[in-house]
Amino acid sequence: MYPLIRNRRLRNSDAIRRLVRETTISPDDFLVPLFVVEGKGVREEIASMPNYHRLSLDLLEKEVKELWKMGLCAVLLFVKVPENLKDNKGSEALNPNGLMQLAIKTVKNACPEMLVMTDVALDPYSSYGHDGIVQNGRILNDETVQILAEMSISHALSGADFVAPSDMMDGRVLTIREALDEEELIHTGIMSYSAKYASAFYGPFRDALDSAPVNKKNVPKDKKTYQMDFANRFEALKESQMDIDEGADIIMVKPGLCYLDIVREIRNEVEVPLAVYQVSGEYAMIKAAAERGWLDHDAVMMEQLIAIKRAGANIIASYFAKDVVRVIN
Ligand code: PBG
Repeated sequence: MYPLIRNRRLRNSDAIRRLVRETTISPDDFLVPLFVVEGKGVREEIASMPNYHRLSLDLLEKEVKELWKMGLCAVLLFVKVPENLKDNKGSEALNPNGLMQLAIKTVKNACPEMLVMTDVALDPYSSYGHDGIVQNGRILNDETVQILAEMSISHALSGADFVAPSDMMDGRVLTIREALDEEELIHTGIMSYSAKYASAFYGPFRDALDSAPVNKKNVPKDKKTYQMDFANRFEALKESQMDIDEGADIIMVKPGLCYLDIVREIRNEVEVPLAVYQVSGEYAMIKAAAERGWLDHDAVMMEQLIAIKRAGANIIASYFAKDVVRVIN
């Protein structure tokens, strides 16, 4: 009790603050999302994601080597698929020589120890921009799950260490696990986007991959019949528990900052590693405010990432990974 206890004694200098700090972040915490495009020598800045680029395979190779040198040890791959290769079933996703399959091999050749995770969902391959097959204004569940399982096998055979289903179809983790096991791909892990909310914060990402739902008759204009309602909490626990029961090795909450209550709640309930995805819109907000001189970029970035870790994240997928390494060095 005051005056015997003065809490400020533990804040008096940088040294004491460092000594009693409860949460720190290091390169080990990060999963680096990477956007891959066709072509050679391509490095296109994403308009709504300043200083973040789509890379062709040759530059992906360089990027991955640089990440590894910086101490970053895991990447999460996404591909931008040319319009003419898209269809309702995302057939191109199963092409053994497709962009994702080549990207996985490129990373593994450049840097064999780098952990490679791959996004598993139909949207970048879908002519309708949905994570599943569209029929009569609905997104088909079980038919989509079969394709996701085949996609997962294809990624694993190309060398992916983990597949990361981001689609929110019911039962996909179990089907993917069984499919991988049947092919004796028992070492391939699953990081499931378990509590993925239907969020407006994904906007810049959909620009990056040109993957937004298209505006057509009989095509749902949003993803609310599969991604979660952001008003819900119990549902996040249920989704997470079900994915763990179905064989998910790592689960994920997405987006980050608006969902830290969910992160803490899940962290308290489950025993598997928990990833949090600080998504494209969160990145864009900080970049935009910093460009205007309204916020201190590095300070706000670190505050948000520490908050995500403090809330209970064991792994953070973030477009800021390289910026963080720069700041902590
Ligand atoms: C695809 C997918 C999305 C993101 C990751 N995987 C977009 C979506 O579901 O529409 C969003 C990532 C981000 O915004 O940074 N299923």
